Amino acid sequence: MTTPHKFVLANRLSRLKPSPTLQLAARSREMKEQGIDILDFSGGEPDFRTPDDISEVAIQAIRDGFTKYTAVGGILELKNAIVNKFQRDQNLSYTSKDIVVSCGAKHSLFQIFQALVNPGDHVLLPTPAWVSYPDQIFLNGGEPIFIPCREADGFRLNPDALEAAITPRSKILILNSPNNPTGAVIGKKEIERIGEIVLKHGLTVISDEIYEKIAFDGHQPISIASLDKELKDSTIIVNGVSKTYSMTGWRIGYAAGPREIITAVDNIQSQTTSNPTSISQKAAAYAIASGDKDFRPMLEAYTQRRFRIVSMLNEVPGISCPMPDGAFYVFPNISGLLGRSYRGHPLLNVFELAEFFLDVARVTLVPGAPFGNDHHMRMSFAASLNVLETGAHRIKEAVSRLD
Ligand SMILES: Cc1ncc(COP(=O)(O)O)c(C=O)c1O
Repeated sequence: MTTPHKFVLANRLSRLKPSPTLQLAARSREMKEQGIDILDFSGGEPDFRTPDDISEVAIQAIRDGFTKYTAVGGILELKNAIVNKFQRDQNLSYTSKDIVVSCGAKHSLFQIFQALVNPGDHVLLPTPAWVSYPDQIFLNGGEPIFIPCREADGFRLNPDALEAAITPRSKILILNSPNNPTGAVIGKKEIERIGEIVLKHGLTVISDEIYEKIAFDGHQPISIASLDKELKDSTIIVNGVSKTYSMTGWRIGYAAGPREIITAVDNIQSQTTSNPTSISQKAAAYAIASGDKDFRPMLEAYTQRRFRIVSMLNEVPGISCPMPDGAFYVFPNISGLLGRSYRGHPLLNVFELAEFFLDVARVTLVPGAPFGNDHHMRMSFAASLNVLETGAHRIKEAVSRLD
């Protein structure tokens, strides 16, 4: 008998952690498969269908035989739609050569890290932050430096905390406004101060603006690149169609920025995925060119849901839920529940609390710890009002059973 081959995985994987919420997600899935009625608020995608007029464009592209390789970094029609969008929505002037289209914003981000990060480089990451940033940084040999944003500051990045975290190894600052998971939108004064710090220390900014359109109560996300020319030349903007147009499965994201970085990303992409899907590009070009007409009703629905879920969660003793400025998540503080017991078992941390909510309330929430915060949980309100209300009732009822 031959001995089984032993694989030795690459060193770069040593710091990649399996997602701590994987086990929770697997249990939630298993329970659903067993026919248990689980309400899942853990997702990061809009619940709306992709608008039909957008889908029709893709269907027509297939009929027209637009199903072959395209230019690696995206078709001109899509790049031009993106260029016009930047001018129209953010008063930012780019040309098609400053844009590269990839297979989702996540893919854009990964390739930007590939293009910029050397082993040991520090990447400044305000937290709470989307879970994929640290692992993408690790995979590219970088060191994420976490800068905690306080709930008392509305989870907005405090410019003094940013400056205090900077060392000679600091190379990149990640901004994500509106933020996943907190919804925080960085205000005008703060972004200007952050801009000064960026220029003073020669940082490169990656501005992840994927939730750009989802902002409430007059909160207007301001791209740091729009403040002045020097900051535009220091910034790579990442955006995409997933959240605004409910097109998560189409996998179209893009980056805009200084030509040398965009060219580097294009080169990396030419040796990895090649072009993003041709038919998705056609649909995305149409969606972006058509502006906000499909998105406006979605924003109205999010606005209504956000009020409802925040007020219902705040009625639950032990939970306090701040009103998010943007995105489609609430990030309630659950410290009032930690240490309480269910049937004699104390719930000592946010993971145990998430298990409790799954078992007893039959709702899936995401523990805040992987986002860098262990006193909060993330709940998506990209679900119908009815489902949100049922979920909040179940949470309240489950909490009433705690000792
Ligand atoms: C902050 C943030 N950036 C990027 C992405 C990825 O978006 P895409 O679907 O375009 O890859 C997500 C998705 O959840 C996100 O929350």
